[in-house]
Amino acid sequence: MLDKAFQKLLQFIDEGRVPPFIHRLIWKTCYQFIARKWKSDDWTFMNYGWLPEAGSSPFPLAAADEKDRYFIGLYYRLASRLDLAGKDVLEVGSGRGGGASWVARHYQPAAMTGLDFSPTAIESAKKWHAEVANLRFVEGDAERLPFPDASFDVVINVESSHCYGDMNRFVQEVERVLRPGGRFGWVDMRSPKMMAGTQQAFANANLLVEEEDLLNAGVVRALDAAETRKAEIIGQARFAAAALRQFSGAKGTALYKAIVHKDVLYLLKIFRKPEAKALAQKLA
Ligand SMILES: C[S@@+](CC[C@H](N)C(=O)[O-])C[C@H]1O[C@@H](n2cnc3c(N)ncnc32)[C@H](O)[C@@H]1O
Repeated sequence: MLDKAFQKLLQFIDEGRVPPFIHRLIWKTCYQFIARKWKSDDWTFMNYGWLPEAGSSPFPLAAADEKDRYFIGLYYRLASRLDLAGKDVLEVGSGRGGGASWVARHYQPAAMTGLDFSPTAIESAKKWHAEVANLRFVEGDAERLPFPDASFDVVINVESSHCYGDMNRFVQEVERVLRPGGRFGWVDMRSPKMMAGTQQAFANANLLVEEEDLLNAGVVRALDAAETRKAEIIGQARFAAAALRQFSGAKGTALYKAIVHKDVLYLLKIFRKPEAKALAQKLA
């Protein structure tokens, strides 16, 4: 029953029938529930994952990260294009912190900041990833980033923005906190109904598109590969297990089928904020 209610709720959100503050509140409640319910550090990612085509060489990972290969895949697909070494990097919607931790260790940015609006997820991420020296976690809202203008070289955003009440405000905030010449890497899914609002939010910002890709095939490979591991985690939820199966895109769910058939598009976009001189010319 809970899974049917959850499906209905997603449909209302998708159709834009839920006001932004309710939209935000629903997702905050969901992610706070998850953060409180699963306190174990053996699960530090919450995305659908991405894997390259069978037969292509696997991306390099430390032995301890192998168990999370499919979830790290989305971070790899995005971060490998962004030249992060020595940079100030922000992840908006860092969840349980596994992705920010991997980026901080693997790409050696000068400083990596993970931000999330779930206080419990932030508290856990601080505890679980405390040994990573160039990493910090901050509680905050994607639509009101608690940072001064021009404070980051790169902003990344992995499977989080579908939760935001106002995508336009989020993209404006990213543009504000990026330094001139800085880059914004985004991956997330969109139904056809939500697509126009997202494209408009990107078009409204002073950000130049550098790369775009459709990730559905790689996401389906990861969903298939992660099925058993996810089932073990979700099995602990008992009464909420059916709803969480839908939520997690497990095989046979409506979401899984929609990603397979491309009724929901899983997109990657990389943008660059123009250099100060180019921006001044554009705005003149
Ligand atoms: C699907 S999870 C992805 C987490 C992480 N990026 C990963 O791949 O493991 C989405 C995350 O976005 C966060 N989130 C949703 N809306 C947010 C908002 N308005 N501000 C900050 N974080 C938000 C949620 O709390 C959740 O941790």
